[in-house]
Amino acid sequence: MDHIPVLLEEVSDYLKPEPNKLFIDGTVGLGGHAYALMSRALPGSRLLGIDRDDSNLAIAKERLASFGESVVLVHDSYANVKKYAYDLGFTSAGAILLDLGFSSVHVDDPLRGFSFASDGPLDMRYDRSRGLTAETIINDWTIEELARIFRQFGEELQAQRIAVAIARAREEHRISTTVELAKVIESVVKRHGKIHPATKVFQALRIAVNDELGELARALPDLVDLLAPDGRIAIITFHSLEDRLVKRFFNARNDLQVLTKRVVVASQEEVRKNRRARSAKLRVASRL
Ligand SMILES: C[S@@+](CC[C@H](N)C(=O)[O-])C[C@H]1O[C@@H](n2cnc3c(N)ncnc32)[C@H](O)[C@@H]1O
Repeated sequence: MDHIPVLLEEVSDYLKPEPNKLFIDGTVGLGGHAYALMSRALPGSRLLGIDRDDSNLAIAKERLASFGESVVLVHDSYANVKKYAYDLGFTSAGAILLDLGFSSVHVDDPLRGFSFASDGPLDMRYDRSRGLTAETIINDWTIEELARIFRQFGEELQAQRIAVAIARAREEHRISTTVELAKVIESVVKRHGKIHPATKVFQALRIAVNDELGELARALPDLVDLLAPDGRIAIITFHSLEDRLVKRFFNARNDLQVLTKRVVVASQEEVRKNRRARSAKLRVASRL
């Protein structure tokens, strides 16, 4: 479980929880950051929390129950944030947070299909109520399409070879589980050090299934529109493609001042306690 929210003290320092502030947490997850921010921001503050994953939202709901009506939770993508912000009165937010990607609950549950460490269906959707699964992509997309996402979203150098191996394997029968897919990849890619040869392909699939880069690119302008003057937006990313997108977006906007001249990363102490923090990068900007 994501008991420990990543870069919590750094996020809190930048987002300055204080009374009477409106917060938007676009990836409320298990409610870890939201809980800490709201505890430090009482009284008078409110938080709109959004998540695509209904089981994570249920955990957040419990964790944030003590804040009563000051916390509103919504099951949707943060890319649709504007609609809810208008309806629920969060149009002048003092602080916005995105803590992107998956949570450890996703990886720990084999039925979600995010991990090849234990066998499960190739799903990988954060929102299981809609959308394409990884199984559909692996079995129905062309070799060219597969190679493109492996290259583009996984930065996988063997993208073409892996795509061809998948196409060959699926001629026998549909590839329907995580371990089956990992074995196909292992048959053509050698292991380098500790990293499993399927790691990059699994990242690529997750990004494609959830259109992670598209959602982020669509949401960023809307999130900035929702910021009050001097309001701050903090984004934690876990791979270079997302980080690059955020960095470029912040730099390109005349109405934003970048507060993290150098990207913020987790301390050695935090990484020791929480391995997932090792690849976290935080960027923060303030609305002029
Ligand atoms: C790293 S976790 C967030 C953890 C949270 N900050 C905490 O402290 O508990 C990322 C969350 O983002 C959610 N998510 C991913 N893409 C999303 C999207 N487009 N819209 C809303 N939620 C999304 C995932 O379901 C997951 O719960």
